[in-house]
Amino acid sequence: MTEPTKDLRLSPPSPLMNRDFLFGVATSSFQIEGDSEGRLPCIWDTFCEQDGTIADGTDGHVACEHIKRWEEDVAILLDLGIDAYRLSLSWPRIMSASGELNQQGMDFYIRLIDTLNAHNIKVFVTLYHWDLPQYLEDKGGWLNRDTAYAFEQYVRKVANCLQDKVYSYATFNEPFCSSYLGYEIGVHAPGKTGRRSGRQSAHHILLAHGLGMQALQQCCPQVQRGIVLNFTPCYPVTDAPEDIQAAKLADEYINLWYLQPLLEGKYPDVMQCLAEEDKPEVFPEDMQIIQQPLDFLGVNFYTRLTYSAPNTPTELYTEHAHREPKTAIGWEIYPQALAQLFTDLSTRFTLPPVYITENGAAMADQLIDGQVLDLDRIAYYQQHLNALEDAISTGVDIRGYFAWSLMDNFEWAEGYTQRFGLIYVDFATQKRTFKASAKAYQNLLQAKKALH
Ligand code: NOJ
Repeated sequence: MTEPTKDLRLSPPSPLMNRDFLFGVATSSFQIEGDSEGRLPCIWDTFCEQDGTIADGTDGHVACEHIKRWEEDVAILLDLGIDAYRLSLSWPRIMSASGELNQQGMDFYIRLIDTLNAHNIKVFVTLYHWDLPQYLEDKGGWLNRDTAYAFEQYVRKVANCLQDKVYSYATFNEPFCSSYLGYEIGVHAPGKTGRRSGRQSAHHILLAHGLGMQALQQCCPQVQRGIVLNFTPCYPVTDAPEDIQAAKLADEYINLWYLQPLLEGKYPDVMQCLAEEDKPEVFPEDMQIIQQPLDFLGVNFYTRLTYSAPNTPTELYTEHAHREPKTAIGWEIYPQALAQLFTDLSTRFTLPPVYITENGAAMADQLIDGQVLDLDRIAYYQQHLNALEDAISTGVDIRGYFAWSLMDNFEWAEGYTQRFGLIYVDFATQKRTFKASAKAYQNLLQAKKALH
């Protein structure tokens, strides 16, 4: 891998990333849309109302006003020259509480998607990016098995309505975050805690994924179907066998817990380390439903973590603080882990084709004289694109890369304090400004078009 640049440019894409390799940007509904009065409440609305949940006490009522400004945002996408745009649909905007399609909400997405298609931008839709309708949470949310069946109905309605306007569907974005952060340690909505709660919600989300995949297969078999998982590779702090074992257990608990059921129809061995009362309830037919053939696996990658042996018999491992160098959100910059991840995954599993559905960095951006000189973000992108090139050169079938994110937005529990965008958003005026990284990405796309 080459050394990081402190440059205004990204190198032209490697010849390994051929003409069919897609470069895109990603967003999600709750983080950018605003217009909360135009939809039903979701768990993040409720969570934001609770004291101390969001770093700056903000919420998603306005966000980037994307519902109002979507045409301006599409013009930005065109200016960037991207091949594909990954967006998510807001379940509470397009479904009524009685399970009917809300046509007005749906019309927003139809207009947006039609416009993207008219400009040959491939549309990657995520069906669930964390904004569960509150009325479902009131009945237990992802702890209630019925929510998986409600998801299936929602998917059916959407797929029948959108048909082949969509290039690819991902059922879920990062089930780890929804279940572990939302139902196990409570730092994300709905703020529930407990090992059993975390593991049960994960199981119901995986079940919902399987049911959703079956619905997509029936309603629009011509569209690619898959799921987006986040991977945080787990490294031992030393070579001592107990630290290596701790890192292995952590990997099974936070990463493979989601991947292994999808690819092999079973949970990792770390399940056997859990007390009986912490294990999720799994019906006999569930694992077969979960293990649907995937047309693609979406991989979100940001950082890695390090582990050592547990301090008490009830823990599985000790997780250590992020090391330097770090991004503004405090995550270690460690691009080698991206290449290593694919070596490890390809050794262990037969992977479907992969898209990097998110990669990016929060940096301490400063808008000075109408410019944001985010050289640190450009360097982050360059290092990770280099790592990706390494992975592709070893034969991994990686078909695209999406930068997170198109623009600064509502960063969940961090509110608006963390900026991940290529485009700077002044939240007081909603003015959008291209950062240097956006120009670098634009140049990369121009270079790609010139090469092919
Ligand atoms: C993961 C999530 O999918 C996205 O919503 C979030 O903003 C980014 N990573 C950064 O944390």
